[in-house]
Amino acid sequence: MQQKIIILDFGSQTTQLIGRRVRELDTFCEILPYNKFPQGDESVIGVILSGSPYSVHDPEAFKVDLSQFVGRIPVLGICYGAQFISYANGGKVEKADSREYGRANLMQFDADNALFKGFTPNSQVWMSHGDTITAIPEDCKCIASTKNVKYAAYASTKNPVWAVQFHPEVFHSVQGTQLLKNFVVDICGSKQDWSAASFVDTTVAELKAQVGNDRVILGLSGGVDSSVAAVLLNKAIGKNLTCIFVDHGMLRKNEFRDVMHDYECLGLNVIGVDASEKFFSDLAGVTDPEQKRKIIGRDFVEVFNAEAKKIEDAKWLAQGTIYPDRIESLNITGKVIKSHHNVGGLPKEMHLSLCEPLKWLFKDEVRRVGRQLGMPEHLITRHPFPGPGLAVRILGDITPEKVRILQDADDIYIRGLREYKTKLSGEEARRVLAAGVPADMKDGEIEVSLYDQIWQAGTVLLSTVRSVGVMGDERTYEHPVALRAVTSTDAMTADWAHLPYDFMAKVSNEIINKVRGVNRVCYDISSKPPSTIEWE
Ligand code: XMP
Repeated sequence: MQQKIIILDFGSQTTQLIGRRVRELDTFCEILPYNKFPQGDESVIGVILSGSPYSVHDPEAFKVDLSQFVGRIPVLGICYGAQFISYANGGKVEKADSREYGRANLMQFDADNALFKGFTPNSQVWMSHGDTITAIPEDCKCIASTKNVKYAAYASTKNPVWAVQFHPEVFHSVQGTQLLKNFVVDICGSKQDWSAASFVDTTVAELKAQVGNDRVILGLSGGVDSSVAAVLLNKAIGKNLTCIFVDHGMLRKNEFRDVMHDYECLGLNVIGVDASEKFFSDLAGVTDPEQKRKIIGRDFVEVFNAEAKKIEDAKWLAQGTIYPDRIESLNITGKVIKSHHNVGGLPKEMHLSLCEPLKWLFKDEVRRVGRQLGMPEHLITRHPFPGPGLAVRILGDITPEKVRILQDADDIYIRGLREYKTKLSGEEARRVLAAGVPADMKDGEIEVSLYDQIWQAGTVLLSTVRSVGVMGDERTYEHPVALRAVTSTDAMTADWAHLPYDFMAKVSNEIINKVRGVNRVCYDISSKPPSTIEWE
C-alpha cells in the first residue's frame, strides 16, 4: 500500500508548496479541502494542516473536527493550522499587535524535540500572520520562540501533535525542509519510496489492469503533459493507443513537423491532422478575442471528433491532466477557484471512459517521469503553450501572413533564450532545480539557459498597431512585436522575467533585421495579476 501524507487545505496560498515539499521527500501526499479528511484510509501516515487567509475568530473561518485524526496519527499544524489546534483545545489566539510578517529567528528551541533534529541555533524562519497564539492548551509545551513570538512552535505532551506558527515550506525558512523531513520521515515513518521509477512501474501495471486490451485515444498537443501521458500509455498498451495531433495552423514555427518527428521516434502511433485551412477560413475577419477562442475550440472538437470516430472500437479517452488541475483550491469565500476540466464536446455515442495517468503528479514530477521514460530533454522542458496557439498572440484578425511573421519573430526569440546561459546560485538556483531542470551544481553554482530559468515565453504581434521606422534610407511603417517572458510555478500568478539587457538588445536587432513586417520590439513588464500571461 502506498503510504501518504494528507494536507488539509484551509485556503492558504502556500498549500500546494507544502505538497511539493513533501513530494520532494519522496513521499506521496494528497491535498484535500479542510473538511474532507479520508476517515478509515489506512495508508495515511500523517496530517498537515495548512495556513488560511482567515483568523480563527472569523465567523466564516474553516473549522475541522480534530478528533478524526488526533491521537491516531501524527499531526503538524502550520500557521493557521497551529492557531486552530490551540484555539480548539482551550489555548488563546489573539490579534497580534502588529502583523508578523517576514524573517525571524528561532532564538530558543527544544533541541531534543524530534521536530527540530539537526536545527542550528538562531535558525531563520518565515512568519506571515495577523493573529498570534498567546496561550497554548494545557497538555502542550512550547518548543520554540522568536524575539516577538513566544509560541513559535509547540507540541502536545499527550498526543503526536506539533504546531509551528512559521511557514517551513517557504524558501526563507532556511531549515524548513529539515523540519518537514523530521516530521514526514522520522515522526510519520515515511519509507520515502515515491520516485519517478516507482511511479512508472506502478502506473504501467495499473494501466494494463485498467485498460486491458481496449483501444485508447489520446489528444496530443506537443506539450509536456500529453506527451508524457502518451509515452506512459504506449509503454503499458503499445499499439492499442492511438494519438491524434491536430495542426490548427497557429503552432510555433515548424512545430507540427518537429513534434511529429519526435513522436514517431518515441514509437507512438500518431495520426497528424493538418486542419489549418479550416481554422484560417473560419477565423477570417474575426478580431474579438473571445470569439476567436470559441471558433478555435469548436473547430478543434469537430476535427478531433471526426478522427476519433474513425477508431470505432475505442473505449477510453486518455488525457494529460495533472494534479494542480484537479486540486480544489479554496478561495476566501470557500468557492472552488480552479477545478477539473474534462475535454468537452466529445460525442456521447462514443461512450468513452476517462483515463488520466498523470492525475497525481505536479509539473516537475511529470518532467521527472518523462526523463525516466527516456524522452528527449527538449520535449520535457518545453514551456506551456496555449491551446489556441498564436491566435491569442496576434491582436486583431488572423491571416496566414501574420502567423508567418509572428512565427519568425518567435523563433528568433525562443532560440535566443535556449542559447543564452547564465550562472545561478542560492535561491535562484534552488528554484530552477526544484522545477525539475537538470543541471550540475559546481562550486555552488549551476549554469542554465534563460529558457530553462523561466516558466513561459512568447512573442505577441500587435497587428492593429503600426509605427514609423527607418531602415537604410527607407521609411518603414510596420508592426511592433512584444516579447513576453514570465516566471511562475503554476500560471495562476506570474512575474515578468528580468532578462539581461544584452540579450534583449541582440534579439531585438535580429528580429527587426530579419523579420519582414516588424520594425519595433517592446518588452512586456506586466505581472499577473493584474495582467494575464497571454494578451488575449
Ligand atoms: P493566462 O493568459 O490566463 O494564461 O494568464 C495562464 C496559462 O494558461 C495558458 N493558456 C491556455 N492553455 N488553452 C490552454 O491549453 C487555452 O485556451 C489557454 N489560454 C491560456 C497560458 O499560456 C498560460 O500558461
